[in-house]
Amino acid sequence: MLLVTGATGSIGRHLVRRLSADGVPFRALVRRPWQGHELGCPFVVGDFDEPRSLERAFEGVGTLFLNGPGAVPAEGEQPMIRRQLAAIEAARRAGVTRIVKVSVWRAREGGKLAEGAHWIIEEALKKSGIGWAILQPSGLMQNFLTGTGSFTEDGDLLGAYGSARVSYVDCYDIAACAAVSLAGDAVGSYVVTGPEALDHNEIAAKLSVALGRPVRYVDLPPDAFAAKLTAQGLPSGFAEDVAALYAEVAQGVLAGTTTTVEELTGRKARTFDRFLADQRS
Ligand SMILES: NC(=O)c1ccc[n+]([C@@H]2O[C@H](COP(=O)([O-])OP(=O)(O)OC[C@H]3O[C@@H](n4cnc5c(N)ncnc54)[C@H](OP(=O)(O)O)[C@@H]3O)[C@@H](O)[C@H]2O)c1
Repeated sequence: MLLVTGATGSIGRHLVRRLSADGVPFRALVRRPWQGHELGCPFVVGDFDEPRSLERAFEGVGTLFLNGPGAVPAEGEQPMIRRQLAAIEAARRAGVTRIVKVSVWRAREGGKLAEGAHWIIEEALKKSGIGWAILQPSGLMQNFLTGTGSFTEDGDLLGAYGSARVSYVDCYDIAACAAVSLAGDAVGSYVVTGPEALDHNEIAAKLSVALGRPVRYVDLPPDAFAAKLTAQGLPSGFAEDVAALYAEVAQGVLAGTTTTVEELTGRKARTFDRFLADQRS
């Protein structure tokens, strides 16, 4: 049996739809029963924060899709580390033989926020003795829907990216890669990007058309960007880390594109225009 965690999230919802359409037997892990009913697929209730619930949820599971929330303002270690390590341990105990994990592009030792946290989880997974594949997405197109991307009070796009390009990827494509990877046994890490890299003036122009109102891109130096996030209510340490990550992106570190989507799924990754069109349909 295949268990899908993070099933109600941006990537997980696409994966649930795809597996259901393909007739693949699976169940979703949800934190509350109503979420399972809303997804409309077989489900089990469990929470990464409650290891006993994982024990029950992982009974009879052979393959695991491992995903959960990214970095959050927190004192000390990112909670995602404790949560995903608990899931890997529950999987090991249950005899799971394959885990496909969503990580992040540039996951690395000592990296800030999700980049450092995912590296720790990746290392634990690789040492777990369980077969693994790791998907490392570039920035998610869905950030512009969920608010993970930053906006001003006036609805303009806010950042510290300068003119750097980012190869944003649609969660639809990450889910499609996950579905292929879950069905196979290839071990490895895959950087998953969109087909093109856009700068944030280009993205603002596309959002303007999609939303039917002018959206500007407001670029701030990292310090001013961190101050703005703090003024919007984020703790200053977290805001500074986010700004530091944006400053790296401003160097062009997420501007490359890969052919992972095409190699795994046999079709090209979706463009930002296609992503926006899908939101309207
Ligand atoms: N944003 C980016 O640009 C970006 C780029 C690369 C990689 N990533 C990575 O992508 C991942 C996030 O994927 P996503 O956007 O699909 O996720 P998401 O939309 O934030 O959804 C998070 C999922 O995790 C579930 N969850 C939350 N707390 C849980 C708990 N205690 N126990 C079990 N499940 C829990 C949520 O369930 P509920 O509905 O119950 O809350 C939800 O299904 C992160 O690891 C992030 O680092 C993000």
